[in-house]
Amino acid sequence: MARPRIAWLPGDGIGGEVLQATRLVLDESGFEANYIPGDIGWEFWKKEGTPLPDRTIELLRHTECAFFGAVTSMPNVDAMRELPEGLRAKGARYSSAVLRIRKMFDLYTCLRPCRAYPGNPGNMREGIDITIFRENTEGMYSGAEWDKIPLELYEVKGMERVPRQAAITIRAITRKASLRIARAAFDRAADTPRQGAASDPARTGICPEKRLVTAVHKANVMRATDGVFLSAAREVAGEHPDIGYEEMLVDTCAMQLVRDPLRFDIIVTTNMFGDILSDLCAQLVGGMGFAPSGNIGDKYAMFEPSHGSALDIAGKGIANPVAAILSARMMLEWLGDKDSAGRIGRAVADVIREGRVRTPDMGGKMGTMAMATAIAAKLKKGT
Ligand code: NAI
Ligand code: MG
Repeated sequence: MARPRIAWLPGDGIGGEVLQATRLVLDESGFEANYIPGDIGWEFWKKEGTPLPDRTIELLRHTECAFFGAVTSMPNVDAMRELPEGLRAKGARYSSAVLRIRKMFDLYTCLRPCRAYPGNPGNMREGIDITIFRENTEGMYSGAEWDKIPLELYEVKGMERVPRQAAITIRAITRKASLRIARAAFDRAADTPRQGAASDPARTGICPEKRLVTAVHKANVMRATDGVFLSAAREVAGEHPDIGYEEMLVDTCAMQLVRDPLRFDIIVTTNMFGDILSDLCAQLVGGMGFAPSGNIGDKYAMFEPSHGSALDIAGKGIANPVAAILSARMMLEWLGDKDSAGRIGRAVADVIREGRVRTPDMGGKMGTMAMATAIAAKLKKGT
């Protein structure tokens, strides 16, 4: 395989720390790439009036994929306060770098596997293995928002229900985006056997070997938007009679995930529900330090740990790098190096199971680089 070009975007807070740890593991895995560093994050918002400079977008255009740490982002009032007067006068407006990249490169699948690695003291239950397919380009994060509703909108029938002084966000759901996220979920289900603890057929009514896709929605209230999402999910389910399919309200799903996480396999849902449920699922398997993610489109992808910049622990060298390392594993799979990906996965699993290295989130005292070094040492030994 020719050396892929990878945009390397550490960002803010623990982003840089977990990426440094990830490089150690990538280099030990034998995987070779050209890693090209790029600017992203809060520092560039303050210096240049944008957290995503144009040169970084250019970098992404000239690479096979990107690997990203995390960025700090703040509500508008705080973001504006931190901006120097000169840039404020030029009309700089904060918009999320990650959301912009997802949209700009049409990275429509946010893939978030949450797996309980055996022996992880943070596992809520052993055997949890849930994969979330979150639609990544629209929904509540459409970016169409108004602090004050434009007067012309009041001409539209139905708007009389909205108070005059309201700020509004548009929840945009298209059939096209719903179909493709549902396809991504069902394709994954069709390609791979079910792992993790077999669900109890008496509870789910579904054969334990059969994969199960749960479409999560709130169509009983948001009838228009989630109506579109659900009908697309049903259509794709109809094309896959061999895969189990069920629908669940998002609030019920949050409750069921805590009550009986083993019943879940693949969850497919809209953008914001997926964002929230994936943090919940991360905590079922030890917390944000164990939750990798991929933002995947047809031509480009960006891999990142699901966590943010974790300012409460940044700079201390204690962030758990496993989420980032597992994201790198997903990246290698996407790039077609299944062998290195598999070895990284096994090395992580071994280190967690053996229990000699424990970061503070696992109840231990060891740091980011100690965890990465232990995983790299396993790779060296040829796990
Ligand atoms: P967070 O995900 O950064 O942290 C949540 C909690 O989990 C914190 O207590 C943190 O210490 C812990 N945690 C996160 N990653 C960890 C790791 N690898 N090891 C051990 N503990 C870990 O979310 P938070 O604190 O709400 O947000 C901090 C900043 O990050 C905010 O500015 C937010 O906007 C931003 N953010 C950025 C994201 C991204 O870049 N994709 C995603 C989520 C938040
Ligand atoms: Mg999130």
